[in-house]
Amino acid sequence: MKITRLQTNHLTCPLGFDLTRARLSWTVEDARGSFAAQVRIQMASAPEETALLTDTGLMATTHDPDTGCVLDGPDNLGWPLPMELAPRTRYYWRVWVQDDAGDAAWSDWTWLETAKAPGERWDAQVLASPFGPAVHPVFHHTFRAEKPLRQARLYCLGLGEYEAYLNGEKLGDEVLLPGFHAYDSYLQYQTFAPPVHPGENTLAFLLGDGWYKGRYGLKQSAPRYGEDYALLAELHLCYEDGTEEVIGTDESWLVTPGPVTFDGIYDGETFDARLMGQGESRPAIPSPLSVQRLTPRISPCLRVQEERRAQRVPGAEQIFDMGQNMAGWVSFVCDAPAGTIVTLRFAEMLRDGTLYRDNLRGAKCTFTYISDGRRRVVRPHFTYFGFRYVSVEGYTLAQEDITGCVIYSDMRQTGFLRTAHEKLNRLFDNVLWSQKGNFLDVPTDCPQRDERMGWTGDIQVFSDAACFNMDCTAFLTKYMHDLLADQRTLGGNVPCVSPMTAYHLGGVAAWGDAVTVVPWFVYLHSGDAEILRLSLPGMLDWVDWIHAQTEQDGTGDLWTASPQLGDWLALDGRSVHGGTDRGLIATAYYFDSAVLTAKAARTVGDTANAQRMEELSERIRRAFLTEYFTPSGRIAVPTQTACVLARYLNLIPPGAESRVDDTLRCLLEEAGMRLETGFVGTPWLLPVLSMGGRTDWAYTLLLREEYPSWLYEVNLGATTIWERWNSIEPDGSMNRDGMNSFNHYAYGSVAAWMYRVIGGLSPDEDAPGFRCIRCAPEPDRRLPWAETRLDTGHGLCRVYWQWHGDEVALSVQVPFGCVMRLTLPFTGEDVRLTAGTYQWTLTAPPAPALGLDTPWRELLGQPETRAAVEANFPRAIRGIAFQQQLYTMRHLLQSPFAELTREEAARLEAAIRDAQHHMLKP
Ligand code: BGC
Repeated sequence: MKITRLQTNHLTCPLGFDLTRARLSWTVEDARGSFAAQVRIQMASAPEETALLTDTGLMATTHDPDTGCVLDGPDNLGWPLPMELAPRTRYYWRVWVQDDAGDAAWSDWTWLETAKAPGERWDAQVLASPFGPAVHPVFHHTFRAEKPLRQARLYCLGLGEYEAYLNGEKLGDEVLLPGFHAYDSYLQYQTFAPPVHPGENTLAFLLGDGWYKGRYGLKQSAPRYGEDYALLAELHLCYEDGTEEVIGTDESWLVTPGPVTFDGIYDGETFDARLMGQGESRPAIPSPLSVQRLTPRISPCLRVQEERRAQRVPGAEQIFDMGQNMAGWVSFVCDAPAGTIVTLRFAEMLRDGTLYRDNLRGAKCTFTYISDGRRRVVRPHFTYFGFRYVSVEGYTLAQEDITGCVIYSDMRQTGFLRTAHEKLNRLFDNVLWSQKGNFLDVPTDCPQRDERMGWTGDIQVFSDAACFNMDCTAFLTKYMHDLLADQRTLGGNVPCVSPMTAYHLGGVAAWGDAVTVVPWFVYLHSGDAEILRLSLPGMLDWVDWIHAQTEQDGTGDLWTASPQLGDWLALDGRSVHGGTDRGLIATAYYFDSAVLTAKAARTVGDTANAQRMEELSERIRRAFLTEYFTPSGRIAVPTQTACVLARYLNLIPPGAESRVDDTLRCLLEEAGMRLETGFVGTPWLLPVLSMGGRTDWAYTLLLREEYPSWLYEVNLGATTIWERWNSIEPDGSMNRDGMNSFNHYAYGSVAAWMYRVIGGLSPDEDAPGFRCIRCAPEPDRRLPWAETRLDTGHGLCRVYWQWHGDEVALSVQVPFGCVMRLTLPFTGEDVRLTAGTYQWTLTAPPAPALGLDTPWRELLGQPETRAAVEANFPRAIRGIAFQQQLYTMRHLLQSPFAELTREEAARLEAAIRDAQHHMLKP
C-alpha cells in the first residue's frame, strides 16, 4: 500500500494560504483490500515522531456497501482538521491507513503553513511611489541579518502586480502576482520563504499595472481598481537563538524608476534593460490604501507549467510557431548591442504567411525589449498573450533561442481520453488546451483579445468538463469568492463578468447561474461539501433576486421580462442571441438554479431553505409547462435548444419524454443533421440524445466533420476550441464579426459527454467525489476502441473497450475506497464492483439496418446501396435536384415530389437491406 497526494484544502504544501477551515485529504494506492478500515493522523512541529503535536490514534472507518460512502471515521476526500492552527506556523502531518485486508502503510510527512492571523496587526506601512502612477517603480531596502538564521518569511502584497527579489534573485516561481481577484472586496497577500543570508541583503519589488491599475475590461480606459502603485511587506527573520526580528515597509524604503516603462494585460509590455539599476532613488511615501481588505491568499499558484520549443515558420523570416494555441509568453536569449529594440508581436493565426491579428481587436499584444548590451534571458513580467505565433523584429533569433512559456494555475490533470479516432483525440486535447489557456487565476472567456474576462456563462457551461479534465477544486473555490464578493455589492444579482470590470452587465440567465451550477459540479467531482457551504448564501440570493424580478415584472413564476443574452451564438436565430425564446431559457435556468440551491441547502443541513427552494422550483415547473407546452404535450418553442433544455432539466409534462425526443430529432434532420445550438443548448445536446436512447445520433454529431461541428475546426487545424462554429467560414475566410476567438472553451463542454458516455463515467449525487462511480459506457461501432482514465480523489479509474467484430471486450478498473455501479453495454445488466480490475466480453446487437432512414450520404457512398437505390428509384438520384437536402429517403418520400407508392417504397427499402446484407457477408 502507498498513501499519496496529501493535500490541505486541495493544495499541496500550502504556504501562507487561508486555512481557517482546513480539510486534509489523501489517496490510497496499491492496496490489497478495498476500503480503509482504520485511519490515524499525526500532526507535528517537525517531520518526525518526536515532535508530535496531536495523534488521532486509530479511527475505525466503515463504509456503506452500496454507495461506498463513509459512515464512520475520517473521509479521505476531506477530513476537517479538529485543531486550532496558530498563525505563521508550519505543521507537518502524515496519515496511516489500514485496509479491510489488513494491508497498512504510513504516508510520508507533508506540511501546511499558516499565514498571519486574521486581523493581525501589520508591523509595516503601505507605501506609495514618489514618482506617481505613470512611472513603474522598484521599491527596495537593504538590511543586515546579524545572527545565524533559522528561517525567514516574507508576507507581502504589491499592487497592481509585483515580483519580489532578494539579492537580485526572483522569489518563487509564480507569475503575475497577486493574481486577479475582486480587489475592491478583498486583497490577497502572499507568503515567501526567502533565502536570507547572514550579513547584508537587499529586498526589491518590481511593480506593474496589470488588471488592477491598467487598461482592462470592456468599454474601459481608466484603471478599474486603483490609480496608484502600493506595496506592503513584512519580513520575519527568525534567528537560531530563538529571537525574531521584523522588517516592515516604511518610509526608509527607497524607490527607483524601474526598467518596465509600460505594461497592460491587453497591450503587452515595454522593458528597457538600460534602465536597470539606473535613475535616482527617492524615499517611498505613505499610501492611503487600508490594510482592512487584506486576506491570506486563496488563489492556487499561477506559474509557467509547460515549455514549448519554437519552430521557425517556413518562408516567413522571423515568425515562430509554438505548435499550439496557448496562453503565456515566450522567453528568448538576447545578446544584442545596447539600444537594440526587439519587438515581439503575438497572434493565434497566420494568413498568407503573416500574423493574423484582426481578431485581437483593441489589444496590441506586443512585447518590446530594449537591450542594454548584456546577454540575458528575456521575458515579460506583467502581461500575457493568447497566441500560437510570434513575430520578432529588430534582432535575429535562432529557433533554439526562443521558448514558449505556457502559463496556467496549478491544477492536476485528472481526465484522459484516447480512442482509435485521431481527430477525436485532437478535439479532446483542444478542450484541455482551452482550459489551460483560460484558467489563469480566473476562468476567462479567451486569452487573446481585449476581453480575457471572467464571463460567468462561459464557466457555467464548461464547469462539468473542466472538473473532469483537471482537479479545479481550489481554483473554482477561489472563483466563487470573487463571484460572491461581487454579488454582495449587487444585492444578490450576479454579474456577467466576475471579477467585475466597469462593465456592469448582470441579471442574465445561464450567466448568473454560474453561482449555482459551478459549486454544484465542484461538489459532485470533489466530494467536498465546503464549496456548497461557502456558496449557499450566494445561491439563495441569486434565486431570490430572480424571484424579486418576476414579482416586479408581474410574470408569475416565469422569468420572461428581463433582457437576456439567450442561446449565445446559436446558428438558428437572426442575431448572436440565437433563435430560442429567451424567456424559455431564463425560466429553465431559474428552475435549475432553484433545484440546485435546494440540493445544496439539503447537503449542508439547511432544511428550511431546501424546502423553500423545492417549493419554488415546483411552481416554476408548473409555470413552465403551462407556458411552453401545448395541453397535449407538444413543445411550443420548436428549436433544438428548447428541446434540449426542457428534456435535460426534466421540464416536460409527465410521459412526454419521447415526444420531445422526437421533436428534437426531427429538428436535427430537418437541419440536415446540423446542430444549431449556441452556448446554452450545446452542452446538453449530446447528453439529451443519449438520455433518449439515441447515443448513435450523439456520436453522429460528434464525429461529423462538415460545418458546423467540432471536427470541422479540427480539420481546419484548430489546436484549441473556437468561440464560434464558424470562426473560420466554410469558404476559408475569417469570420468578419469583431468577436472571434480561437481559444474559447464554451463549446468544449462536449468533453463532459465524452467522459460520461464514451467512458461512461459519472459522479453520483448521493456519493459525490466518485465515492460511488456511475459507469455506463456506450461503445459505438464507429470507434474501434476507446480508453478513458479518470484520476479521481481515490486513485485511477479506467474504462477500456474494444470492438472485435460483433463483440466488445470491456475492461474496468475501480480505485480503492470506491463502489462502482456499472451498467453493462447492450445487456443493460447492473453490476456492483469494488476496488480491482474486471473484464467482460459482450455481444453487441447486429449493426442497425440501413433503410429509408439512412442519410443520403451514406446510401450513396457505398456502391452496393447506391445500386439498390438506382435500380428501384432512379428518379431519386437523377430527377430530383434537391434530394440530398432532405437528408434521408424518408424525408424525400414525405415530400410531394417523390411520387412513389407505398409498395414501391417498401420494395426500395427491402433492396437496401439486401444490399447491406451482401456488404456484411465475409
Ligand atoms: C465573450 C463571451 C461571453 C459573451 C456574452 C463575449 O464577448 O467572449 O464568451 O459570454 O460575450 O455576451
